[in-house]
Amino acid sequence: MTTTSLGGDGVTSRERTAAQQPDWQAPDAVARVRAELGARHPLVDAAACHALRGELRAASRGQAFVIQGGDCAEPFADATADRMQAKAALLEDLADLFEGHTGLPVVRVGRFAGQYAKPRSSPVETLPDGAVVPAFRGEAVNGFDLAEREPDVRRLLAAYDHAAAGLDALFLNRFLPLACDGPFVQTYVSHEALLMDFEQPLVRPDWYAGGHYASSAHFLWIGDRTRQPDGAHVHFARSITNPVGLKVGPTMTAPEITALVTGLARGEGKLTLIARMGAEQVVPKLTELIAALGPMAGSVVWMCDPMHGNTRKTAAGQKTRLLADVLTEVGGFVGVLRGHGLRPGGLHLEMTPDPVAECLARPEDLVRTEPLAPYTSLCDPRLDRGQAEAVVRYAAELISPGGNRR
Ligand code: PEP
Ligand code: CO
Repeated sequence: MTTTSLGGDGVTSRERTAAQQPDWQAPDAVARVRAELGARHPLVDAAACHALRGELRAASRGQAFVIQGGDCAEPFADATADRMQAKAALLEDLADLFEGHTGLPVVRVGRFAGQYAKPRSSPVETLPDGAVVPAFRGEAVNGFDLAEREPDVRRLLAAYDHAAAGLDALFLNRFLPLACDGPFVQTYVSHEALLMDFEQPLVRPDWYAGGHYASSAHFLWIGDRTRQPDGAHVHFARSITNPVGLKVGPTMTAPEITALVTGLARGEGKLTLIARMGAEQVVPKLTELIAALGPMAGSVVWMCDPMHGNTRKTAAGQKTRLLADVLTEVGGFVGVLRGHGLRPGGLHLEMTPDPVAECLARPEDLVRTEPLAPYTSLCDPRLDRGQAEAVVRYAAELISPGGNRR
């Protein structure tokens, strides 16, 4: 853990601990990079962030449903017109599928055009030959290739450039709003707000509503490893006007979630809780946390991330997820929320339009010793198109016909 100063970017001058920050190899370059980011254009417009917030408000009332999806770790190389088009088109198709089944409008949120930073359980990776290298933390920090594992702060500038290129591609392909030009027809972008040296310099005055907003994406979320109620990430999320997400994993306690929601849920549409409990824990843990929140549970959007609590390893040692676990978690999530008179507000998926074999439809494939292929994810295993459609169709069947409205 390192301590990051929040001063200088119009956010606050207090110092808070920021978990999961890279150990930058050239600390004197950090101030230079932050200053350069601070001088750049905002990547997204404040009005579009508020348009999304309005759509999330509708989701919190059961009048809309969110589908958020994309890579676990997005490669810089994907910031091209073709790749962005393919990713946005998959999201669009899933939205159409859900809308067709339920009649509910879908809020489209890409996990792309900036999803370049990863929290890691271990700061190092031990290779098969016993060598220990820094863990891959996303291309905003270091390279996936073993020769490029030293964190390089100049990569934050490359992250900005690639996010900008990705956003341009989305705009050219008519997926992206310049500002708020009508609800439910536009694609928004999101990423985990992890790297303070990237997010803080990109904070800008919010010309639309006053205060300050994060101009790096419309929607930012706080990961399960950086959600300390007194930590820098939570403080950052509270200080911006964007809608924000908070991952809620099985280690979340009742006092923690109460403190977090009290601090973050300022106004309808501000806070989305993204539950990622795992197929086995979703029912008991979600029940416990909803009970702890009491009436506050009705003030947020509830989304289900059925990916991150369901990671397993194959006999060959690759990370994978079983489609059956993913579906079980979605079913448990919808059931618990319904049982408490709350609205299931959306899905958060790791998915790709590419024909990969990363998640498994057949549990018996877990014991196979040959590697899954093609397996191109830089981090967690993603659903392919057919699997993502199966998850969305299942959620739609649980929620239709009109069953998400009261
Ligand atoms: C992720 O969304 O890729 C992730 C790391 O999730 P979590 O913080 O929920 O583990
Ligand atoms: Co992931």
